[in-house]
Amino acid sequence: MNYLVTGGAGFIGANFVKYMLKKYEDINIVVLDKLTYAGNLGTIGEELKDSRVSFVKGDICNKELVENIFMNNDIDYVVNFAAESHVDRSIEDPGIFLKTNILGTQILMDVAKAHWTISKDEKGYPVYKDGKKFLQVSTDEVYGTLERDIPEGQSLVDNGQLTVENGLSLEELKDLFKNREAMPKVFGNKFFTEEKGLDPRSPYATSKTGADMLVRAYNETYHFPVNVTRCSNNYGPYHFPEKLIPLIIKNILEGKNLPVYGDGKQVRDWLYVEDHCKGIDMVINGGRLGEAYNIGGFNEEQNINIVKLTIDTVRKLVVDNGELKVKDQYKNVVKCPLEKINYDLITHVQDRLGHDARYAIDPAKTVKELGFYPETPFTVGIEKTIKWYLDNQEWVNEVVSGDYQKYYNEMYGKK
Ligand code: NAD
Ligand code: TYD
Repeated sequence: MNYLVTGGAGFIGANFVKYMLKKYEDINIVVLDKLTYAGNLGTIGEELKDSRVSFVKGDICNKELVENIFMNNDIDYVVNFAAESHVDRSIEDPGIFLKTNILGTQILMDVAKAHWTISKDEKGYPVYKDGKKFLQVSTDEVYGTLERDIPEGQSLVDNGQLTVENGLSLEELKDLFKNREAMPKVFGNKFFTEEKGLDPRSPYATSKTGADMLVRAYNETYHFPVNVTRCSNNYGPYHFPEKLIPLIIKNILEGKNLPVYGDGKQVRDWLYVEDHCKGIDMVINGGRLGEAYNIGGFNEEQNINIVKLTIDTVRKLVVDNGELKVKDQYKNVVKCPLEKINYDLITHVQDRLGHDARYAIDPAKTVKELGFYPETPFTVGIEKTIKWYLDNQEWVNEVVSGDYQKYYNEMYGKK
């Protein structure tokens, strides 16, 4: 199968490329990425040495470039990760979000549509080559925000509402989590289902909604073969340190304040990035055409608790067993004195404008139809993530220095 993965040098796109190469022998991937500040060729450095992967540096808004990719490769699946993805940046400067996230998606679909069309049916709808699909990686932020009816959270099973909304029985839910130490928590009685109307609040979420709806419009209007995935907040390796979790890890290691917006009681549903990649693969291979699928972590938590757990986990991982000193291997990584790695680092700062209170995905449709299960409990995922950052400081330094452009020239020059 031939994939076009846009945004494949970014956080989730790169993890997806890695996941797919490991899982499928018979796969070719063209990565198209503009290498904005968020894209880093070093992230897929190893993968670029694989003959199944090729890389094109460029903009999804560049129609001629996208045309060329389709002319030179018999693309079966487009997986569109390319986007401006940071809410705070969208508040400062929405324009580029609308351009990349909406117009870029339109251009990708127009080119794919032209290349995949073989004829027209009697009603005038295009007929496409078999097996083609455009997958739009959307977000739960398109649904807007939810109430925090249960401020301190409650066990999913005790709450019971999720079962009412989504058609997973209590028994099915218990079975889903039978291997977990603790039952996931919920912070409210309503959840995002695929049927919920889209109601975005931030410029970022609105740009993603524009794209999401355009994809649906192409399916209705041209019978264009699509799926949409709407996922909750991801975390894991290669996450650019402007988002909450990697920023907190970086600041802890440097002994800097940990900026928590407002009271820190906003709730997000955190999903380990590899579980997202699995979900996308399931939708590509089993999703019914024209459908949207939620992918969520069953893992709601308040920001403040995420930050505290991150502090606790960093301490646990770096401290030498029994001794009050940093493990030798992390001596150069942990620049903060050990006794200062505690909750005093937390600093409440001015809240984000229009800060969404709670996101909570109901992934029942994806669980039932495709067998999706968010395998990684947060305590396991955060440990893996922090360990990765501790062991990959070069990557962090590279992405924050801007030196990856030089890396690109060296790497791409050879290909
Ligand atoms: P990211 O910002 O880490 O990566 C985005 C990538 O897209 C970068 O490599 C960047 O260089 C590239 N890019 C940006 N503009 C481009 C353009 N015009 N042409 C080509 N490439 C371009 O983002 P991410 O966190 O990996 O998110 C990937 C996708 O998943 C996005 O569409 C995002 O909306 C969606 N999503 C993210 C999350 C999350 O928690 N991070 C959750 C749900 C959905
Ligand atoms: P973020 O990682 O930016 O993802 P999103 O806004 O797409 O959910 O932020 C996650 C949550 O953490 C969000 O409620 C905003 C909050 N936050 C902070 O409190 N401090 C920070 O420095 C950042 C970046 C985010």
